[in-house]
Order: sequence, then structure tokens, then C-alpha cells
Amino acid sequence: MALCLWLIVVAPVCCWGQGPVDTGDSGVFQPQSALTDMEFASVSTYRGPGNPDPRPNNKLPILLWWSSNLFPHFPGDTERVDCAHSSCLVTSNRKVQLYRRTASIIFYGTDFRAYEAPLPRLAHQTWALFHEESPMNNYLLSHSVGIRLFNYTATFRRESDYPLTLQWLPSLDYLLKAPAVPLQEKNRWRRAGLAPVLYMQSHCDVPSDRDRYVQELITFIEIDSYGKCLNNKPLPDYLEDTSTATGEDRRFMSFVGRYKFHLALENGLCPDYMTEKLWRPMHQGCVPIYRGSSSVADWLPNNHSAILIDDFPSPRDLAEFIKTLDQDDAEYSHYLEYKTPSKITNLRLLEGLESREWGVNDMSKPNYLNGFECFVCDRENERLAAVKAHRKNPQQNLLPQPKMANSSHMGCPLPSPGYGPVESIDPNDGWLQMWPQDYWQSLDQAEGLESLVRHNVSDPSLLWQHIQSIAVRRARGR
Ligand SMILES: *[C@@H]1O[C@H](CO)[C@@H](O)[C@H](O)[C@H]1NC(C)=O
Ligand SMILES: *[C@@H]1O[C@H](CO)[C@@H](O)[C@H](O)[C@H]1NC(C)=O
Ligand SMILES: *[C@@H]1O[C@H](CO)[C@@H](O)[C@H](O)[C@H]1NC(C)=O
Ligand SMILES: *[C@@H]1O[C@H](CO)[C@@H](O)[C@H](O)[C@H]1NC(C)=O
Repeated sequence: MALCLWLIVVAPVCCWGQGPVDTGDSGVFQPQSALTDMEFASVSTYRGPGNPDPRPNNKLPILLWWSSNLFPHFPGDTERVDCAHSSCLVTSNRKVQLYRRTASIIFYGTDFRAYEAPLPRLAHQTWALFHEESPMNNYLLSHSVGIRLFNYTATFRRESDYPLTLQWLPSLDYLLKAPAVPLQEKNRWRRAGLAPVLYMQSHCDVPSDRDRYVQELITFIEIDSYGKCLNNKPLPDYLEDTSTATGEDRRFMSFVGRYKFHLALENGLCPDYMTEKLWRPMHQGCVPIYRGSSSVADWLPNNHSAILIDDFPSPRDLAEFIKTLDQDDAEYSHYLEYKTPSKITNLRLLEGLESREWGVNDMSKPNYLNGFECFVCDRENERLAAVKAHRKNPQQNLLPQPKMANSSHMGCPLPSPGYGPVESIDPNDGWLQMWPQDYWQSLDQAEGLESLVRHNVSDPSLLWQHIQSIAVRRARGR
């Protein structure tokens, strides 16, 4: 991601923190002087000027990026962002954590650790979660008690506040691209001995346990497997260089494009979690054999553009189906019909691409980090204005309703075996020892953190004690 592209740095704007901005800061709030040595630059808005926010920097709410390595500005800066409706200061400087003007703390889900959470959690501050990566990166967020700690979310789920569901689909044109290898040529390769199905995976031992499924499938149908997982074929030398073996490289595309079918199994299973595993074969003109999001059909171009593993009762049935398609050019071509624009009939997909404000590799649109930052900024300014109006005139203006996330914003299920019942798995199996445990330990951490927050604890390292006492209480049946 080219995060810095959105920055146009303007001359530093002067100092805020002069004079008493807030009264009533006490106790836990740090004095303003802690901030006076910070320098502020100003960024112009990617939406162009025009928001009506007249306030100088020293009156703006602050958004703190807790995970500084995702901070979508120059590292270490504090900057003014001018969003659609209002402006904020954004920083990754943790000195502002307990400051009254700090309205929201933004977290990157993959880096979020309960034992490093910003505590005590202040009542006037919201927490915002950005998590576009795999559910496997942090199962804490999949538990209801964990996700409810956040007020705003940007996740792959359509239910999140700022959904990133189609983040791996750059555009409609990406789908419409003509197949890298035409069907006649794919058939020639078949006759020359190429398998119908490609598997190329080097990240083994993942929560979706995909290799266990593929291992079973491979006993019923020929699969060429080039990655580290279940490898049965060497890559051609010219593709060994991994820098070309992943992206849009033409030689890579024409190599993988020879295959009629690509096994496309996500590393973690969750509704609406779809990655390049799904969209890239479609771009290349190959039919994905997909498992990942259970609701993937909601987003596909039409009802015959991918083969969904979960539609088949067994790997044997799936293999039979693939074999029939392999023998039937007309039926196979049916699966690539969406390459003709009029055959893309899924309005949800079309509208999703049309209505998202962020772009993928599109310089004319904001990236979704800056987009979410502005989403939070505008929401926080609305909330602050509503709180202020309420204080002025409580009879006329109600306090804004609390806003918090729930498990529909993430909510990924307990990892289950890729094939067969969990009881049939060897207790020493690596997957079994890793992922179900990780999922339940993440629940402990979520509960521990919720307890720290509820008890207004300042030291996040007390997490382990809280987890312990929750376990003890539970064992006593309370
Ligand atoms: C939470 O703890 C801080 C000190 O760490 C204290 O200043 C603050 O008043 C406490 N808040 C509540 C609601 O008890
Ligand atoms: C797809 O939808 C069409 C028309 O709605 C229907 O006739 C057809 O049976 C469907 N195909 C599949 C594979 O579900
Ligand atoms: C933010 O979420 C927390 C915890 O879930 C909740 O207690 C608080 O009221 C929410 N804040 C706002 C402003 O909605
Ligand atoms: C969960 O959040 C979604 C979207 O923010 C909301 O529509 C839904 O009503 C919430 N569900 C519950 C059970 O609160």
C-alpha cells in the first residue's frame, strides 16, 4: 500500500496547546505541557478543501493511532486532516493517550494485544478498530466480548461501520479481463498431461486447515501442487523467483492460466473474508474451487462463476463434478461468462464496487486507512457537537446514544478441521494443538481485557491476574 501518496505536506502550522483548552482535566489526564514540544504539520485533505470546519488546530479533537506502523502519514508526525465534514489532528504519539482532547484511539487489529491496551480506558474516548487481514491474525476480535470493546470498526464484514469487503477486488475491469490462456489452449495442455486443477500454497498449518481437505481431494482427482504445502511438482526455473511468482507477472499468469481450475482456500474461515485467492483466478480466467467466506455467493458476479467446496457433500463428489466440467467445454465456458459485462448480474457486487469511496491502486481515491481515519474524525466531531449541545440545553438535546461494535463486525467461528470430524484427528496433530487453542486463549484475553477496563485498571500487565481470577470464578461455578 502506498500510504504516503496521500500526503501533501504544507508548512507547519503553529503550536497548539497554548492556553487552557479544557478545564476540569484532573487526575489521570496529563498536563498539556507534555505536548508543547510536539510539532504539527498540516496536510491538505485528499477530498480537496471545502469542509466548513473553521477551528484552528488547537481546538480540534485528536485521533491517536495506537499501532504506529500503520499510521497513514509520515512516521512520527502529528497532522491536521481535513475530512468531508470536519477536521481532526492525527498522531501516533502515545503521549496524548490520556489527554482530554484525544477523542478516539485507532487500533490495527493484527497488532492489537490485550496486555498492551491503552489503560485506563477513559469514558470520553472511543476505540476504533481497523482490521482488514485474516481472522487468524487475531482471534480476540472474533469473540463478542472482544469486539464490543470497540466503538467503530473497519473490517472485511459488510456489517462493519466502514466495510472493506471487496478490498481484494480492484475494479470490475479486473474481473472482465480476458482469460490469460484460452480454453482451446488449456485443453491442449490437458492432453499434454497437465492436471485439471492447480494448487499453489506455501502457507501451511493455517486455521482453515485447507491442506487436510486438499489431501483428500487429491485421491480422487489429479492436482498439480507447486507450493510448499503438499508439493508434488517443481515450479519451472523461471518462476522460482518468488518476486514474480505472486502478482500480475505475465509469465506467471500465463503459467497458472493453463489450468482450468484453481484451488482457492482462504487461510481462515469467516463470513465476507475473501481475498485474492478468490478474485485472482477469476481475473486470470480460471475457475476457483473456493472455500473461505460462507457467504461468498452474495458477492460473486453470477451464480456460476466459482465452484464452492461447501456445496459438495464430500471431496469425492467435488472431484466428480470437476471431472464432468473438465470434459464439457460448453459447461466450463459457462463458468467464465461473467467476462461479458451483461452477464454480471449481481447487483450487490456492482453496487459495492460503485459505492465504496476508497480505491485499490487508484490514486484518484483515498486509501482505506485514510478513509477510515476520516470516518472516525467525522463521527467523533458529530458526537462531540451533540454532547456539547446537550450540556447547553439538556431539555432540547438528548445525549447521543452509545455506539459499539458487536460480533457481526468480525465474529469468525472456531477453527474446524478442513476435512472430517475433529474427533477423528490425532491428538498430536499440529493443527489441533495450535488453532482451536489459540481461539479459546483469545477468548480468555478478551475477557481479561474487558475486566481490566471495567475495573478501571491502569496497568495492562495485570491482564494475567484478571484472566486467572476469571478462570477461578468459573471453576467455582460463579
Ligand atoms: C480511573 O482511574 C484513574 C486513575 O488511574 C482515576 O483518575 C479515575 O478517576 C478513575 N475513573 C473512574 C471512573 O473511577
Ligand atoms: C442460476 O440462476 C438461473 C436463473 O436464475 C437458474 O436458472 C440456474 O439454475 C441457476 N444455476 C445455478 C447453478 O444455481
Ligand atoms: C464505546 O464503547 C464502550 C465499550 O463498549 C462503551 O462503554 C461506550 O459507551 C462507547 N462510547 C460511545 C461514545 O459510544
Ligand atoms: C450489531 O451491529 C449491527 C451493525 O452495526 C447492527 O445493525 C445490529 O443491530 C447489532 N446487533 C446487535 C445484536 O446489537
